[in-house]
Amino acid sequence: MSYLIGERMTGGYGGADILKGCTISVDRGEIAVVVGPNGAGKSTAMKAMLGLLKPREGKVLLEGEDITRLSPQQRVQRGMAFVPQTNNVFVTLTVEENLEMGAYLRRDDISGTMERVFELFPVLKDRRRQAAGELSGGQRQQVAVGRALMTLPSVLMLDEPTAGVSPIVMDELFERILEVKRTGIAVLVVEQNARQALSIADHGFVLVTGENRFTDTGEALLANAEVRRSFLGG
Ligand SMILES: Nc1ncnc2c1ncn2[C@@H]1O[C@H](COP(=O)(O)OP(=O)(O)O)[C@@H](O)[C@H]1O
Ligand SMILES: [Mg+2]
Repeated sequence: MSYLIGERMTGGYGGADILKGCTISVDRGEIAVVVGPNGAGKSTAMKAMLGLLKPREGKVLLEGEDITRLSPQQRVQRGMAFVPQTNNVFVTLTVEENLEMGAYLRRDDISGTMERVFELFPVLKDRRRQAAGELSGGQRQQVAVGRALMTLPSVLMLDEPTAGVSPIVMDELFERILEVKRTGIAVLVVEQNARQALSIADHGFVLVTGENRFTDTGEALLANAEVRRSFLGG
C-alpha cells in the first residue's frame, strides 16, 4: 500500500462533481506526477488530499491510516506539506523570514533544516536578507518549496511548481525536486509541462474530467502512443 493515497475521490465545490472516483497515490522516495488538461480536476484532487475540500465519497489514507476526517492543520502536523500554485510566498518578508514562517509549528532548533534548504537552493542563501517579492519567479518557487521543507514533511505536494518560469529554470527546479525525493520524502506534483514532469516521475496519473484516464510509470506513459498523441502534443 502506498504511503499517501486519495482513493476513489468523488466530489467538488457543492455543485456538480468535479472529481469522479479518481485515485492518486505516492510513496516515500518517489515522485508521482498528475497531468491532464486544464480544468481536469488536478488541483481539486490535491485539495481533497490536503483536506481543503471534503470529497463526497472516497477516502484519504496516510501510512495506512484513514485521515479523511482530519483538518488540513492536522494533516500538516502528520507530515503533509503543500506548495500552492499562486501566492505561495510572503512577498514583503525576507527569504529567511519566509523559511522561518514555514517552521512556525516547530518547537525545536530549525537552523539545521534551514542550512539544508540553503544547500538545496544556494541562491536563497545569498539572498536571505532580501524581500521575497524582489526575487525572480524561479527563485520565488525555490522559497516556496524551501518553506514547505522547513516543516520536515514526509509528503511534499506541489501544484504547478514550474508555472511561468523559463525552460532552463524549469529543468533546474525538476533537478531539485529529484534531490528532495532522494531524501525519502514522498513528492506529488501537478504539472502542465507534462512531458518534462513525466520524465522525472516514478509514477504518473493522467486525469481527464475528474477521472483516471491513464496510470503507469512515467516512462511507460511517455512511451504510450495514445498518451503522446492526446496529452503530450505528439
Ligand atoms: N473554488 C472553486 N469553486 C468552484 N469551482 C471550482 C473551484 N476551483 C476549481 N473549480 C472548478 O473545478 C474544475 C477543476 O478545476 P481544477 O481542479 O482547478 O483543474 P486543474 O487543476 O486540473 O486545471 C474546473 O471546472 C474549475 O472551474
Ligand atoms: Mg490546477
